[in-house]
Amino acid sequence: MRSSTGASFVSMIVAAGLASAAFGVDAVPLCSPASEAQLQSTSILTPMSPPAREIHSLAALVVGICAAIFIVVEGVLLWSIIRYRRRAGERGEPVQVFGSNPIELAWTVIPLVIVFVLALATVRTIKDVQRTEPPEGALAVDVIGHQWWWEYRIADEDGGTPIVTANELVVPVGRPVWLRLASADVIHSWWVPALNGKTDLVPGRFNNTWFEAEKAGTFLGQCAEYCGTQHANMLLRVRAVDEAQFESWRHAQTAPAREDPSSAAGRAVFLRLACMNCHAIDGSSAGAFGPNLTHLGSRETIAAGMAPLNRDTLRAWLVDPQQLKPGCNMPSLQLTEPELDALVDYLLSLH
Ligand code: CUA
Repeated sequence: MRSSTGASFVSMIVAAGLASAAFGVDAVPLCSPASEAQLQSTSILTPMSPPAREIHSLAALVVGICAAIFIVVEGVLLWSIIRYRRRAGERGEPVQVFGSNPIELAWTVIPLVIVFVLALATVRTIKDVQRTEPPEGALAVDVIGHQWWWEYRIADEDGGTPIVTANELVVPVGRPVWLRLASADVIHSWWVPALNGKTDLVPGRFNNTWFEAEKAGTFLGQCAEYCGTQHANMLLRVRAVDEAQFESWRHAQTAPAREDPSSAAGRAVFLRLACMNCHAIDGSSAGAFGPNLTHLGSRETIAAGMAPLNRDTLRAWLVDPQQLKPGCNMPSLQLTEPELDALVDYLLSLH
């Protein structure tokens, strides 16, 4: 009698788990277009890449099973309290049960089955999420964490030099992206919740992760390992675009830096001052300490996603970077007004 109750209890838990896993997948319908707000969110509840989806399903399964256990245990507890409460006229202790085989068996076997189900599901998810080999046809990208910005090196599939850019990663939608992560200083962690779980960037070693954006749009993320004063402002942007847009972006990024005669004065300022010691602009300077600025004008933000890129924010940044991002490695260069204007013109011309 008791053991059959145990068996139906197990099947109930498994059914609840499966139902919640199905619910987890259904929570983001595959057919309906994702809203821009969903893409921009950093919620783990709107996965838009296979590994993020699997992590989400696993979490839903675990929460489902735990919720079922909670309901059953609390239900039995409440039922016992009410059913077997001391009634008027009752005296002494109720009948005591010692060494009941069915009960011992039930509370040994049921948890064992639960742990087994959770372990199997977890191992399967880890295997898919933490791949050791790049997926077929993946775009290879190196990610290097710096205090406090991201460097991306996108392999050139035609064998040329890689595209070097910063903070904003552009990828083709529907194609796997294989990341190789390293750090230039301390431990950082690359985390775009809609695309995959966290992967640390550890000095002296390479880690790998992957994702595949299922929708076009901008996916936001955040450095997820405390890495110093500006850790909270080490933001991530991944822009997924269709294959044709990606090709034209790639083409533009491999072009040499634009040299607009009208911004020659700004270029002269850049080369005369300390800028060129840290920042690379293909054809003009080879600094490697700060973000590569060859195609700065093609980006949406500055200071690792802290501010939108426009004339006002760029100017304020050049006047005093410490104002926007205290502790960052870029100093104020004490530029004169005409120098500032010329430099902003030049930098914005770099498309
Ligand atoms: Cu980089 Cu936190």
